[in-house]
Order: sequence, then structure tokens, then C-alpha cells
Amino acid sequence: MRGFDLSGLVLNGSGTFDAIAARRTFGDELLEQFPFDVFVSKTITAEPRQGNPPPRLWETPGGLINSIGLPNKGLDGFLAADLPQLAELPVPLCVSVMGFTRDELAKLVAAVDQREEVAMFELNVSCPNVETGLIMGADPSETARVMERVRPLTDKPVIVKLTPNATNPAEVAVAAEGAGADAVSLVNTLKGMAFRPGTSEPWLGAGTGGVSGPAVRAIALQQVAAVSKRAEIPVIGMGGIASGAGAQDFLAAGAECVAVGTESFRDPAAGSRIRRELRGLRPKLEVTYLERGTRSG
Ligand SMILES: Cc1cc2nc3c(=O)[nH]c(=O)nc-3n(C[C@H](O)[C@H](O)[C@H](O)COP(=O)(O)O)c2cc1C
Repeated sequence: MRGFDLSGLVLNGSGTFDAIAARRTFGDELLEQFPFDVFVSKTITAEPRQGNPPPRLWETPGGLINSIGLPNKGLDGFLAADLPQLAELPVPLCVSVMGFTRDELAKLVAAVDQREEVAMFELNVSCPNVETGLIMGADPSETARVMERVRPLTDKPVIVKLTPNATNPAEVAVAAEGAGADAVSLVNTLKGMAFRPGTSEPWLGAGTGGVSGPAVRAIALQQVAAVSKRAEIPVIGMGGIASGAGAQDFLAAGAECVAVGTESFRDPAAGSRIRRELRGLRPKLEVTYLERGTRSG
């Protein structure tokens, strides 16, 4: 990927590991034993956001529903307060960005591109374009337009993070690739909801949220396999990975590397454990799903 080899790496899922808070808790030990090979920031937006009203989390069997709502300091706050701290991490930094219009996203990418501490971008396209009402990443042509707008603004690698709430994520991946994306990552969370026990009131303050964790792993694996068959660019697989064996399944489905999300809430060192387990297992992986001749052009 544009001079960057992702193969076999373990990343974090955006928004699931607060490296700044973890450094406060664990001190410099965090830097010595950093759990990921690349750190992906929480998604930032041009303006500061408070996020959704509480409650924001619900535990499901084998997973979580979150409606955090992307609280963040906005572009200026990120550059001034968070970036200098994230730049001290011992691994390359990927900044996750989201815009409610293509211009807003372009502004973010152009500004963050100036910072040499930033190695790459992830475009979070799981949000509505307020101009068209379409979820950017749910529609191949909308995704292509977003990527085309951003591509001339940076020479850094750009990963497009696909939403599983699209009719055909493989079509979206092909559109992102055609418009110049260097890699795709998937899955983001699946839409879900929960009710306050014994009532007809939704539990989450925002009404609905996104499901993640082992509960989504089988769905994520199928989507990663479908996208890997169609896209030539590297695929970063995630969704419910909680062990090296789970990560290996994503590589078998055609992913170049994996990301760990929800499992880090249970165990902040999960990334290191999964990396260790995966590296112990990888030599046993002789033939991937794709190499069995399932690539379908
Ligand atoms: C609490 C929480 C916050 C998240 N925040 C973001 C975010 O800011 N940007 C993003 O692209 N994905 C976000 N995600 C999605 C994860 O990065 C990941 O795609 C998803 O949770 C699936 O992986 P997992 O099952 O291993 O958690 C968030 C997920 C959770 C659970």
C-alpha cells in the first residue's frame, strides 16, 4: 500500500482504544508494550462534537451496541491537543476523518496532510452526506465521489472504511479502489437497537446504535471474503476479533491484516495477545480462501 506493507499487522479499530487515556493510566509502559502495529485515531470531524445523549452503550450476548456519536475536539482541537500526544506513540499514526459534506472532508484531509507525524488516513464514510441524504459509504458512486475529492489532496495512503450497512460492500470497495483508495477496511458497526428492560423505551439515548464484538464476526468474515474477491487493494479485516484464531480466519478470508476493536474494552492488552497468538498460528496457514481459486474478477 503506497510504500507501506500491511501484511500480518494488528491495528486497532478506530474509536475503541483511547491511547491518550491509556498512557495516563499505564504510563510509559504503554509505549514499551504498545498493543498495535499502527494506531488509528478516533474519528475526527471539522467542528467539535459533544456526541449522543446517554446511555451510549448496551451489552448484547457476545457484543456491544454503541451510540457514542463521534464526540471529538474538532480539527483545531485535535491538531493542538491530541496530535502531539499521539505522535509520541511508537507506531505509525493513521488519522480517521469524517465529513458531512465532501468539502468538509476535503478541508480535514488537506489540513491533516500538512502534519508529518501522520502516516496515513482512514476515511470513515458511515455518515450521511447532508447535501444528498445518502450514507456516503452505502452507495458506490457516492463513495467514489468522496474518494475522488480527497485523492489529489494527499500523497499519504488513504484507507476507506466500509460500512456493513450497504447493499453490496464489494461494489463500494471496487468504487473506492477505482477512485484511488490505497486500501479498504471493514466492518464498521452494524445497525442495532435494544429496549430498556420491561419497557417499550429504547435503551440508547439516540434510539439506535452500532453492534460490534464477537456477535458480528460471522457477518464480518463473509463481507471481508466478498470484498477480497473483488478488490485488488489490501483489505483490513475486523469485526469481533478476540483471539489469534479469530484473526487468522480474517486472513484466510483474504484480508491482508486485521484490526481489534471491542475486545480492547475487555482487555486493553488484547492487541498484543492477538498479535502473539496470530504469529504463532500463521505458519500453519497454507492456503487462503482466495488462493483456492475463488477470485471472481
Ligand atoms: C465504542 C465504539 C466506538 C467506535 N468509534 C468509531 C469511530 O470513531 N470511527 C470508526 O470508524 N469506527 C468506530 N467504531 C467501530 C470500530 O472501529 C470497528 O469497526 C467495529 O467495532 C467492529 O470491530 P470490533 O467488533 O472488533 O469492535 C467504534 C466501535 C465502538 C464499539
